[in-house]
Order: sequence, then structure tokens, then C-alpha cells
Amino acid sequence: MPRKLSPEDQWWCIDEKTKKPLTFKGLKDICLDTTEICYIDAHNSKLYYMGYDIETLAAKSCFEETAFLLLYGRLPTAKELDAFKSRLKAERNIPDDLVELLRKLPDDVEPIEMLRTAVSYLGNLDPERSDLSREGIYSKAVRLMAKVPTIISYFYRIKNNLPIVKPNNELDHAANFLYMFHGKEAPKLWVESMDLSFILYAEHGMNASAFATVVVASTLSDYYSSIVGGIAAIRGVLHGYANVAAMMQFREIGSVDNVEKWFKENIESKRKRLIGFGHRVYRSYDPRARIFKRYAARFAEENEEIKRYYNIAIKLEDIALRSKLAEKGIYTNCDYWSCQVYRGMGFPVNYYTALFAMARIVGWTAHILEYTENNILIRPRLYYTGELDKEYIDIEKRSYREAEIKL
Ligand code: CMC
Repeated sequence: MPRKLSPEDQWWCIDEKTKKPLTFKGLKDICLDTTEICYIDAHNSKLYYMGYDIETLAAKSCFEETAFLLLYGRLPTAKELDAFKSRLKAERNIPDDLVELLRKLPDDVEPIEMLRTAVSYLGNLDPERSDLSREGIYSKAVRLMAKVPTIISYFYRIKNNLPIVKPNNELDHAANFLYMFHGKEAPKLWVESMDLSFILYAEHGMNASAFATVVVASTLSDYYSSIVGGIAAIRGVLHGYANVAAMMQFREIGSVDNVEKWFKENIESKRKRLIGFGHRVYRSYDPRARIFKRYAARFAEENEEIKRYYNIAIKLEDIALRSKLAEKGIYTNCDYWSCQVYRGMGFPVNYYTALFAMARIVGWTAHILEYTENNILIRPRLYYTGELDKEYIDIEKRSYREAEIKL
């Protein structure tokens, strides 16, 4: 006879007081480890990288400096920053084999899916892929940070029948990416915004994609596999794909006049979730959203399309922040406004998650390095609620209703 387990059989999972299984679905509020990389002040709308306020970094830093800070734990000297920029520039080119792979990918592949494949292939081509030393991880991280902008630009240009534009080593990281992508040097506001988006998206604690990278790294797998894990996780709409979905949402609403009706029919009725709202950690306005919003306003001043989205977003946010969502602690997150900044820089909507991932490689790497310094395999358990010792019935004697499982 099949049998069920009693709570005592799985005593390690039973709460002593309630005698019920103590599970942590979604790992809400579980601290995996200690960290010095990032602090999210959930109630005061603050974010810190290595102790530096994100507002300060957004105002004063550049992507390369912020990346150095997150990877090496302190701000660089001028000489160190120059050397770091030079190392990145030296690694911008990508192998011809990878360019061929980009050509072969189906036209309708999402850029973030392309990136998952491309990073995996880049790993295959790297003879140092199995080197797990810290120096080895730093070298591969620099390689990846430098090559991913080239990969995304080349993919865009190949799929749009445009000539490939090689990296321009006169330009820094953000300016060079815009140059390769669009085929010409970008206006000042675009370069500033791209650099800012790199900074704001570089790191954000133990989010789903950072966790995925660390889970893979904790098995002592290789660096590229860990990053592929992160890219796979960031692709989902509850995480990185939200910046694509937020723009689709503004497009679906269409006009300021439709905002109220749309909100009633979709959000108040709970038919849909409001994309670009809510966060597992924040119980206040995402500080990155506040900064992106300022830049979206600047694009709205000079671009009619962004002005339309911006006005829709302003009205929608106003309604949402006065609704039950805000009472529950659900506020604007960064993707709500970043999508408008990306659109302002002329990127096609489906590229936004890849742009996010391009920046987040830094944070993923920082967490891989920090977690594996004193590595413990990540391996949680589950509370078993099924039956045991079931009788194995031979196939010809099984009598389930076949319609139950659709094949
Ligand atoms: N719209 C409507 N209701 C929401 C939303 C939202 N955006 N977010 C949370 N809720 C409700 C949810 O329906 C639930 O209600 P109830 O208690 O009545 O069942 C309650 O709030 C708790 O939701 P949860 O899903 O258990 O909370 P969570 O901590 O897992 O949510 C989240 C985090 C990001 C998945 C969620 O807020 C969400 O789905 N947001 C929309 C997608 C989005 O914008 N994602 C980007 C996140 S920030 C950038 C990044 O990480 O990439």
C-alpha cells in the first residue's frame, strides 16, 4: 500500500511551534549570504553600490568606473581607470565564427535569447573557459563586458541588412556601443543616457538572475555557464523582460485619454499586472526609476513619440500611486521609465532586455566572485507531500483515463 510521510519523517522542515512544514516559496526575505556589494533601502527609496548612493554614482561616475568599483571593491585611481578602459577596448572584437553564428540565428529570435546562445558559444571558443581562478574570472568578465555590446550591435545590423560597424577605440564604452549599433556617433544626450543606464542596471543584489548565476557558480561550473544562467533568468517578464513589456503596455494604452479606462479594466479588475510596478524588495519608489524618469522627461522634450509615451506614463503612474497598489507597497520600478529612455535612444523595443543584461554582467560577476570566495554548494531541499512505495502496475494493466494528459 502506498504510504504518506508523517511530519516527523521530515523533521528538518517542520516548524516547532506550528508543527507545519516551514517552506520559503520564492525564497522571500531569505538571506543567502552576507555581502558588501549592494544595499537596497526598501522603505527609503535608496540604493547603494559598495556603499555609494546610486544618485551620486549616476551624477558623477561613468560605467567603467562603476564596473571597476563593483568588481574590485573600491573606486579606481585615474591611472587604474585608464588601464581598465584600455583593457575593455582591447577586447571589443568578436571572433568571425561568432559573427557567422549570429547570421545563422532565426530572424525572429529575441535579442536576449540570441545573447544567451552567443555567450554560450563565446565560452566554447575561449581556451581559458575552465580557469576558475579569481584572475581568470576577472579576465573573462572584462572580455564579456567588452564583447557583449559588439555582439548586440552586430546582431541588430545583420538582421536589418545593415553593414557591420566595427568598434571605435576613440570612444568609451557607452558611446562606442551607440556608434556600433546606429552606425554613427550619437548625440550627447544619448551617450549620457546610455552610460547612465549602464550604471543603473549594473547591479541589484540577489535578484533572480544574480541567484541563477551564483547557483551555477556554486557547483564550480565555468564562468560562461554561470552568466548563461543569469541571461536565462533575466529573460522572464517578472524580471528583465519587464522593460520590453512596459513599453508594449504604453503602446497598448495608446493615448492619455485611454489611461483611466485601461487601468480600471485591466489592473483594478486584476486581469493583468501593471508592468513596471512592484518589486520583491522595494516598498517605496525605486530610486533608479526616479533617475530614469528625469531622463525620460528630457527625451520627451525633443521627441514626439517619447512625449506621447511619457504623458501616458505620467497619468498611469499618478492613478496607480493613488490606488490600492500603493497601499500594498507596490510602487514604480526602474523598467517603467527605462524603456522610454531606451526608446529615446532609438533602440527597437525587443532589444531592451539585452541592454539590461549587457550592464548586469558586472553585478553577476561581482556576486560570483563574492559568493565563491568561501563557496558552499547551493542545494535547498523540498518538503515531500506525495505518496511512497506505490505499486508498479505493468503497462498493459494500467487504466487511467487517457484524456487526462493532453499529448
Ligand atoms: N500589478 C498588480 N499587482 C501586483 C503587482 C503589479 N505589478 N505586483 C505585485 N502585485 C500584487 C500581486 O497580485 C499580489 O496580490 P495578492 O496579495 O492580492 O495576491 C501581491 O501584490 C504580491 O505579489 P507577489 O507576486 O507575491 O510579490 P512579488 O514580491 O513576487 O512581486 C514582482 C514582485 C516584480 C514579480 C511583481 O511586483 C510584478 O509582477 N511586477 C510586474 C512585473 C515587473 O515590473 N517586473 C520588474 C521588476 S523590477 C526589475 C527587475 O527585477 O528586473
